[in-house]
Amino acid sequence: MSTLVVVGVQWGDEGKGKIVHLLGHKADVVVRYQGGNNAGHTVIFDGKHFVLHLIPSGILQPGKKCLIGNGVVVDPEALHEEIQFLEKRKIRVKGRLFIADAAHVILSYHRHLDCLREDASGKGKIGTTRRGIGPAYSDKVGRTGIRIADYLNPTVFRPLLERNLREKAPLLTRFGSMKQIRNQVLKRYSALRSFLVPFVVDGPQFVYGAVEADKRVLFESAQGTMLDVDFGTYPYVTSSNPVAGGVCIGSGLAPTQIDDVLGVVKAYTTRVGEGPFPTELKDDLGESLRQRGMEFGATTGRPRRCGWFDAVAVRHAVRINGSRWLALTKLDVLEGVHPIRVAVAYRVGNKILKEFPNDRELQATVQPIYEEMPGFQGSIRGMTRYEQLPVNARRYVKALETLVGARFAMVSLGRSREETIILDSKFPWKP
Ligand code: GDP
Ligand code: IMO
Ligand code: MG
Repeated sequence: MSTLVVVGVQWGDEGKGKIVHLLGHKADVVVRYQGGNNAGHTVIFDGKHFVLHLIPSGILQPGKKCLIGNGVVVDPEALHEEIQFLEKRKIRVKGRLFIADAAHVILSYHRHLDCLREDASGKGKIGTTRRGIGPAYSDKVGRTGIRIADYLNPTVFRPLLERNLREKAPLLTRFGSMKQIRNQVLKRYSALRSFLVPFVVDGPQFVYGAVEADKRVLFESAQGTMLDVDFGTYPYVTSSNPVAGGVCIGSGLAPTQIDDVLGVVKAYTTRVGEGPFPTELKDDLGESLRQRGMEFGATTGRPRRCGWFDAVAVRHAVRINGSRWLALTKLDVLEGVHPIRVAVAYRVGNKILKEFPNDRELQATVQPIYEEMPGFQGSIRGMTRYEQLPVNARRYVKALETLVGARFAMVSLGRSREETIILDSKFPWKP
């Protein structure tokens, strides 16, 4: 048995989809343990391009099994659409994808509530993906949520739905009468229910089964540590725990069974939506990173905010996740950028902060203290060995390792699977 958690260590979109797909050929099972269809994981191989939202990226590796764990919030309509999309592209999903019966569902009123809260928040809005994620997790913790098992059983589901509609109706008037909103939920209920039945399993049993059968299990986070509801830039976060600790809660894997953690990190920083971003570049360089890195949301298409690498935030994430290993992505996007800057601490007034602060006012006002490094020229794409990289690119990689306190198992130099250099032969999941 061997388990590996692949977790984002910035504000999401680090390239988790690419890395999970690359490592997925060594896995028997790939598990998503939190988030929902707010995620957008891009996988490019053999000239094909996929963006996955709910289904683990392992589905694109023939023969692998995939689980949507109990910690995920599942929009049945979005899941149906994603399965249809994959099957149309000749990816067999039936018999390979499983869904934990204790995962909670997102229904149309969760999406409405998400929009309502965002629109009512004015300047304080979070910039959510409007997929209903926060309201569905609120219901889960508030004990009014509806799980897949409940959704599949009409005699359980109907009274739960009525109770939720009664509770939320006063807020939902903008989206129609209670009757109309009920009809939105029920219109495709019967068809979706029959569609889902064959996929549904007891999630923890599925995970124990894999572990006991000595399978290799990969856990794929959505979002990233700085968007974690406990360890991120609260309240500008998502409503779940992407951190490695979330694996146990979101899948049923026991804490003692996590063997290793790999953090995925971009060579610079991006963030979509609102919230603190100490190293943000609001100038031409930020725009140039956005264009060259194609930094537009894989789910909502929104332009991503871009900035320098923030070693304070990543070091915080490396510790929380216990990620001994990192995969560095998008180094190619820094080609020709000179000098390259990395935030190594923050300044507030005349105080120096070496750790990421929890105070939201500090998060929004800290000034990064940068270390400058010489940039590298020329194209590095297509390079297959670390020694081929320009000396300044190698220096940058080494400096980041020291600053964040973890080792790079691999460096990615392009979007497709092949454009990856393996740096450390001791990495147990070396492709
Ligand atoms: P995820 O949410 O963490 O899976 O990341 P996204 O798929 O949302 O965003 C990462 C983007 O960067 C995608 O468009 C990837 O195709 C792309 N990408 C991943 N690795 C690299 C890389 O090393 N270089 C470049 N140029 N693009 C990359
Ligand atoms: P992947 O898995 C980047 C952001 C949203 C918003 C905040 C809350 O592709 O890395 P939510 O809809 O979750 O309530 O929005 O979180 N966000 C992401 N940002 N990548 C993601 O997923 C994200 N999922 C949510 O932009 O700021
Ligand atoms: Mg993404």
